[in-house]
Amino acid sequence: MSTKQWIGLAAAVSFFTMCAVVDASVGHGAKGPKKVGILLVAFGSSEASAQVSFENIDRKVKAAYPGIPVRWAYTSHIIRAKLAKQGKRLDAPEVALAKMMDEKFTHVAVQSLHTIGGEEFHDLRRTVGAFKSMGGFQKVILGYPLLATQEDMQRTVDAVLATIPKQRQKSEAVVLMGHGTHHPANAFYAALMFQLQLKDPNIFVGTVEGYPEVDLIKDLLLEKKIKTAYLVPFMSVAGDHAKNDMAGDEADSWKSILTQAGINCIPILKGTAEFDVFIDIWVDHLGGPLGHF
Ligand code: CO
Repeated sequence: MSTKQWIGLAAAVSFFTMCAVVDASVGHGAKGPKKVGILLVAFGSSEASAQVSFENIDRKVKAAYPGIPVRWAYTSHIIRAKLAKQGKRLDAPEVALAKMMDEKFTHVAVQSLHTIGGEEFHDLRRTVGAFKSMGGFQKVILGYPLLATQEDMQRTVDAVLATIPKQRQKSEAVVLMGHGTHHPANAFYAALMFQLQLKDPNIFVGTVEGYPEVDLIKDLLLEKKIKTAYLVPFMSVAGDHAKNDMAGDEADSWKSILTQAGINCIPILKGTAEFDVFIDIWVDHLGGPLGHF
């Protein structure tokens, strides 16, 4: 071995020794430096208007919790695959959390951008729970979706009232279209309608895939002799359901069903995540997990 090789070997040995020393100070139960992060989790969307909403949420989160790195994950595999084809890479929550663990984040606040605590929220809860039991993070906590507590309900009622189209007359109906689910959390939609109607009796909440169904809403509108209804998505993004199931020209869209019943329909294609009053509720929910760090 030449002198040069000896020096090289010695340098390598001392480097690895150094690494071992540094590693020992952070590994084996000893705590490394505290590193707090935020992971925002949405169902996802490939709509251009949704990107604007998500950028707005991102900006508001960073303004409310300055200095904390913010990451994003989409739960929808279909949306992620669609975006990947456009060269836009988005992670599933488990991948995003694994990366954050690898980057030595110690405390992670995962914020659901879902509307209710339905199936997707509970899947996310399981993922967060798995990372919790894995032990890589000191703390990983999930924040509530839009509707969880009674206070959220009240704030959401106020947000709906604040974002109703200005030109709408009190005699005209506002029909919100929620997603709906077979999950027990579906009860939130009828509960929201009850609380909205305490403030404004001509606001209705139906769902595409749960209860209340559009036929029930139609009967309620006819009973009240309503002539005009504003159709408004009660989903974070005005995507496929809003464009087709709500405002589409197909015979089974809400617009077609209600128009057929003699009600003049005015669809509004704006998701809740396009309005600050709704975004603020999600942003404030981040305070829950972050308050425990
Ligand atoms: Co759907």
